[in-house]
Amino acid sequence: MSEKPEHFIVDGKRLDGRRVDELRPIKIEIGVLGRADGSCYLEWGNNKVLAAVYGPRELHPRHRQKMTRSVVQFRYNMASFSVDERTRPGPSRRSIEISKVSREAFEPVVFTKFFPKTAIDVFVEILQAGAGTRTAGINAASLALADAGIPMRGLVSACAVGKVDGEIVLDLMKEEDNYGEADLPVAMTAGRQITLLQMDGHLTTEEFYRALELAKTGCDQVYELQRQALIEKYSKEYTTEIEDEDPAPAGEPEGDADE
Ligand code: CDP
Repeated sequence: MSEKPEHFIVDGKRLDGRRVDELRPIKIEIGVLGRADGSCYLEWGNNKVLAAVYGPRELHPRHRQKMTRSVVQFRYNMASFSVDERTRPGPSRRSIEISKVSREAFEPVVFTKFFPKTAIDVFVEILQAGAGTRTAGINAASLALADAGIPMRGLVSACAVGKVDGEIVLDLMKEEDNYGEADLPVAMTAGRQITLLQMDGHLTTEEFYRALELAKTGCDQVYELQRQALIEKYSKEYTTEIEDEDPAPAGEPEGDADE
């Protein structure tokens, strides 16, 4: 693990040169897995995350089926090689907790009532971890769900805020996450309905509300990047589909000859 830095903010700049209200760079690619119904690869700072969605599909074992709705299942998994100190493969207390809160982050937005007796399975694989993997996983899962065509009220966008050197900062990097005074991951809908809110560390009430406001601006920026990625993917696909259509044979009128 890296050493605790003496200062996190020098001359208004953080260790990686960002302002206190600046996100790390985000790169998004949608539809990267051929066998999944929806998928997304997302890089955020040093995080590299893959999300895959399968379903709606019949839920097994059948006694877990809900007669009036679909069951959303979420598995967050950290690859052993994703961190400096190799993690044990398989579920841990941490991954079970993150899977639970991530699933709950989508509960208010997915129209589960459309698909009784089914499961909608979301898998998030952390390939490289660098602070904020749960929020990165939620952002990727949100796009994978959209890519799978799962009806939703809207996208869910997430980011963390925290406190270092007594200042509230947006989108913690590794050192800030490990040695900072507070870490507050937040997920919300485009309408700013909060669907995940956790906190580690200490904040005064005033700092908490200030941090929450900063998180909202961060989620708005993430939402815009998610929206752009979807537009880019689907406008490209739509254009290709039109180009692929066979042109009418030369000299023949378009439409049905019997008309
Ligand atoms: O990743 P996130 O911030 O959502 O969750 P965390 O539990 O606060 O973990 C913070 C960071 O610690 C992760 O992003 C990883 O970079 C690192 N970590 C690690 O190195 N080894 C672990 N077993 C778990 C986390």
